This record gives sequence, C-alpha cells and structure tokens, in this order.
Amino acid sequence: MEFSGKYHEADFPERYADKHARTLTRRANDRREQALLARCLTVCACSDSLADIGCGPGRFWPTLASTDVPDLYALDVSHAMLSFAREHHGVLGQRFRVAAGSVLSLPYVDNAFETVACLRLLHHFGDRLQRRRALGELARVARNHVIVSLWTDGNYKAWRRARLERRRGRRPYENRHVIPRGVLQEDFTAAGLVVERHFDLVPAFSQWRYYVLGKMDSR
Ligand SMILES: C[S@@+](CC[C@H](N)C(=O)[O-])C[C@H]1O[C@@H](n2cnc3c(N)ncnc32)[C@H](O)[C@@H]1O
Repeated sequence: MEFSGKYHEADFPERYADKHARTLTRRANDRREQALLARCLTVCACSDSLADIGCGPGRFWPTLASTDVPDLYALDVSHAMLSFAREHHGVLGQRFRVAAGSVLSLPYVDNAFETVACLRLLHHFGDRLQRRRALGELARVARNHVIVSLWTDGNYKAWRRARLERRRGRRPYENRHVIPRGVLQEDFTAAGLVVERHFDLVPAFSQWRYYVLGKMDSR
C-alpha cells in the first residue's frame, strides 16, 4: 500500500523509534499510550495468547510482555521493522514469534489469538473498503478481543486538522486520516466487533483513541 512504502527503508525503524523519545511531549504521550494499552489489556483479561499486528519497532512489546501472557506474536509488513524490533528488545524480543505479512491478509488461522492489538496502523487506511477488510482480518484471527488505536473526531486536534484541510484543500493523497466515530461504529459492526471500552490519549484534545472491541460471536 502507498503509505507502507517508507516503513521498508533501512533507517526508518530507528528514526521511528527515536521520534517517540525526542521531545518531552512525545515521551509523555508514549508513557500515556503504554498506560492506555495496559488498561485495555486489563479489560481483555487475556491469559494465553496476544498478537501485535503492525508492531513496528516493538514500541509496545514491554507492555504486552508485562501481562505474563505466555504466547506472544508480532507481525509487520516491513522486514526492516521486524529485524530492528528483535535486535532492539534483546531477550524480551525473543519472546515474540514474528512474521512478515499484511493486515489485509493475515497468515494465521481463524481465532488464532485470544487478543489482537493493532496500534497506530488503521488511521493510515482512508479507503473504507480496505479499512473494513483490515478490521475483518483482525476480527477473524481474534478469539475474544481486538484492541485498536487510531484517529477519531470530536476533539480539538481533529477540528484543527479539518480547518487546515478546508483552508489549503485536501492533498491528492493523504497519509493519515481522521475517521469519524459514527463511521467507525459502522465499520466495527461490519467486522462483527462491538465497542466494550474506549480511552482517549488526552480527552477532548487528542485525536488518538484506543478501542477495546469484543467479538460479537464470542458473547
Ligand atoms: C505508525 S507504525 C506503528 C507501529 C507500532 N504499532 C506503534 O504504535 O509504535 C505503522 C506500522 O505498520 C506497518 N504496516 C504498514 N502497512 C502495513 C500492512 N498493510 N500490514 C501490516 N503492517 C503494516 C508499518 O511497517 C509500521 O511498522
């Protein structure tokens, strides 16, 4: 996919990992994201298997590993990201069974994992059919829960972004997208997922929202 291209560059994983540590605000946001993921995982009460889809440099691996869930998996479309993650996390990295592949066609059987996390990937999917396909794949390989983080509306940052786009006009290709909450609800339902909880990075301000989604057919 067009947005995936840069992730294959050899030096991109390091630049991406550094980005989250560069300024005080980014470090604070990273800490808050890790805490939100930990809260999501508590809601899921996962005990046997967890998968991190679109894992990147494994930013969330310490939080995922801290659950004591024995079977940890990670997938990314970029081999450069996977190698970086394994090296960067040393012994902890060895606990993850990694695979290269796309969220649009996951190389796992149905219900392979108790909980599946897909963080900071779906906001790249502006095309609704593709986003639904990705959500459908996440739901297919999850037995109980899917955790996603993405950009939603109803906050200051999304309002500011919409104003900017109105002023300068939308570019022919946008890399990241604010997906209205109502649209997301319909996409989740289409994938057989129902919102159990959500957490905002900074309520009313930030575009980042974490959703804990339950599988309709496991209820
Ligand atoms: C913005 S990074 C997020 C990384 C990590 N989840 C985080 O939050 O720090 C997006 C990741 O998704 C991966 N990616 C891009 N397209 C993908 C696809 N179609 N299937 C799976 N992973 C993909 C990229 O290689 C990159 O590592």
